[in-house]
Amino acid sequence: MNLLLLLPRFSLWWVSISLLFTVTIAQDSPLITRISFGSCANQSAPQPIWEAINKFDPQLFIWMGDNIYGDIRKPIKVIGKERTFGPWRNSPRFIPSSEEEMKLRYAKAKSNPGYSRLKRNAKVIGTWDDHDFGLNDAGKEFDHKVTNQRLMLDFLDEPLDSPRRKQAGVYASYTFGPTNRKVKVIVLDTRYHRDPLRSDGSILGDTQWTWLEEELRGQRSEITIIGSSVQVISNLSATTGPLFYMESWGRFPKERKRLFKLISDTKRNGVIFISGDVHFGEITRYDCAVGYPLYDVTSSGLVQSVEKVFPRPLRFIVRLLFWYTPSTMRVINDNCKFKACTYGQSNFGAISIDWNANPITIRLEIRDVNGFAVLGTNVSLSELQARGSNSPTNPPTKGKSQRYCTLEVELPGTKRYRLAVLIYFTIAVLAMAFVGLIIGVVLMITACVYKNKLD
Ligand SMILES: *[C@@H]1O[C@H](CO)[C@@H](O)[C@H](O)[C@H]1NC(C)=O
Ligand SMILES: *[C@@H]1O[C@H](CO)[C@@H](O)[C@H](O)[C@H]1NC(C)=O
Ligand SMILES: *[C@@H]1O[C@H](CO)[C@@H](O)[C@H](O)[C@H]1NC(C)=O
Repeated sequence: MNLLLLLPRFSLWWVSISLLFTVTIAQDSPLITRISFGSCANQSAPQPIWEAINKFDPQLFIWMGDNIYGDIRKPIKVIGKERTFGPWRNSPRFIPSSEEEMKLRYAKAKSNPGYSRLKRNAKVIGTWDDHDFGLNDAGKEFDHKVTNQRLMLDFLDEPLDSPRRKQAGVYASYTFGPTNRKVKVIVLDTRYHRDPLRSDGSILGDTQWTWLEEELRGQRSEITIIGSSVQVISNLSATTGPLFYMESWGRFPKERKRLFKLISDTKRNGVIFISGDVHFGEITRYDCAVGYPLYDVTSSGLVQSVEKVFPRPLRFIVRLLFWYTPSTMRVINDNCKFKACTYGQSNFGAISIDWNANPITIRLEIRDVNGFAVLGTNVSLSELQARGSNSPTNPPTKGKSQRYCTLEVELPGTKRYRLAVLIYFTIAVLAMAFVGLIIGVVLMITACVYKNKLD
């Protein structure tokens, strides 16, 4: 042990971790107090966010998907021979890359100096989402999945003899920390077995469900972090439709119910979800699913973000629209940088656990490129314990919406669809103004011509 103490801190960490995994006897694993995570990292763009992540000094970093952008995105074209957009499109907007191209992109991501530094100081684990699975919005039908699983596990330096390389999908679980202070991290694969969107079929597939049940029934851990590439709690599609829809567990209502029921049935306490995918940060909470509040901390993206799509002077509009779109699950508090309590610039997730506090507290945060918290909430571990029954703690009274309990789809229509109404109304007014303008111009020209004739 004395010899080990001479090694730098990270090596000591690695030695303990490898011991934990190769020799599965009870081993004192280091106490985990800082975990960070992130998603949506365009390997070809600058990635200044790593500096802030390194400054947070996490012991563990979890990739939440779109770790690279592996597929090829064609420009939006509504006219011409190759139309990639609109109901009349005749050509896909996204196409998969070759294996060689995927390798090049992973190599680029892996060689980023900021990320390399993180890898030397922290354990890095993770899952994937659609763009590193290999194709936008793809699921089980995607035929590059076997090859791409190998490339993804290479990127994560998964040992060659790891069972994870022999299974169908990249789901995995890890346990850290000493007895009575254990943190279990489960990363799900929401791509490999996923049925088509709008099928209300399965996200995880039978084998992964069986595995997840064993993991949740298995050894006790004080905190269990479940990583899902797509959001679990927020169902923004319910309030942004029919304008646009996003991928989420909400789009697979039966599968989502099954997940909550499994957490209840296995009596697993201390579960916290983390997610990515949507290009903005958000913390949501659902109190009526299991016997205690379920949090979902969404960090997206490390690079890609909704606000960057707009020129700087117009970015306030994005925040205004976020604020205007109703949400029943979003955590709204004084810790938010913006009133909407979403964050649409590059960000990462930061979880800090204070094991010495009484009760033990967990700080859930979204931090910006400078490392400042832009969203945050403190949760005490004692809140995350089921109290007897599985039934909702306070079922909402009919007709009244209750924060953290009412589903978005149960909102009254006037509230639920107010974003769509606003957008359609604006488009109608603009269209009418345009038609009015044309009519005006035509009338003026005719009047002039008529006048000239008379003269
Ligand atoms: C990634 O970044 C590069 C360079 O800025 C850009 O050309 C490319 O379109 C980006 N890809 C995506 C998927 O945004
Ligand atoms: C989420 O919203 C979609 C779109 O409105 C809806 O079809 C689905 O049932 C919702 N899911 C849940 C769990 O409310
Ligand atoms: C949350 O916890 C942190 C320490 O982890 C503390 O500094 C902060 O004041 C707490 N915030 C609130 C709102 O309780």
